[in-house]
Amino acid sequence: MNKKITIAIDGFSSTGKSTLAKQLANHLGYVYVDTGAMYRAVAFFAMQNGYISTDFFEKESLINSLPFIRLQFKFNADLGFAEMYLNDVNVETEIRTIEVSRFVSKVAEVSEVRSKLVEQQKEMGKDKAIVMDGRDIGTVVFPDAELKIFMTSSATTRAQRRYDELVQKGDAVTFEDVLKNVEERDYIDTHREDSPLVMADDAIEIDNSHLNRKEQFDLVLELVTDTIKSI
Ligand code: DC
Repeated sequence: MNKKITIAIDGFSSTGKSTLAKQLANHLGYVYVDTGAMYRAVAFFAMQNGYISTDFFEKESLINSLPFIRLQFKFNADLGFAEMYLNDVNVETEIRTIEVSRFVSKVAEVSEVRSKLVEQQKEMGKDKAIVMDGRDIGTVVFPDAELKIFMTSSATTRAQRRYDELVQKGDAVTFEDVLKNVEERDYIDTHREDSPLVMADDAIEIDNSHLNRKEQFDLVLELVTDTIKSI
């Protein structure tokens, strides 16, 4: 297991990509990068500065502000994972709200935002030994990744998972709202012009509707072992 590889995990929202990727990175001693957190932090920045709301999006203002957006992951040893910092402020909690989820797909459609984040992501992965999850990792960020996983499950299953998480955090949401948000994000993510969510030709699809966390982890670990043996 001493050969280092790049593992790209893509798929629809709330498929449990982050949980799996985090667990895998910890097990392998690899770096884990949640690229969704980076898009969420940019959306949060846009909200904070009044560039985006339900009825408007001042795209140009956001584009002009991009040089002033600094994103960093800092490892929190107590939690066992890296947290998202926006201009030196920990925004890990703020970026997980339903409000941010509502606007993030719009922000992620902007090509200038994508190129800034993709450049930073490529840099983070230059030494391999990385598990990165998102929507375009196997297609755009690391098209040469040795292992690409594409995760799917039904919109209802995903909305139920997300709803349970939000309720547990104390968010006052309805299941219908969460399902609507999941479906809207699926639509925007798969239909945007720049880097739409598509499965890379050489990715392995895992439908986890009927797999528990341990089953998914064991399956992916087997794929990692086979990949390392084959290179
Ligand atoms: O994985 P997530 O739900 O936290 O991602 C938030 C949003 O960011 C999602 O709606 C699509 C976008 N995203 C993207 O366009 N490209 C990525 N690599 C990761 C996320």
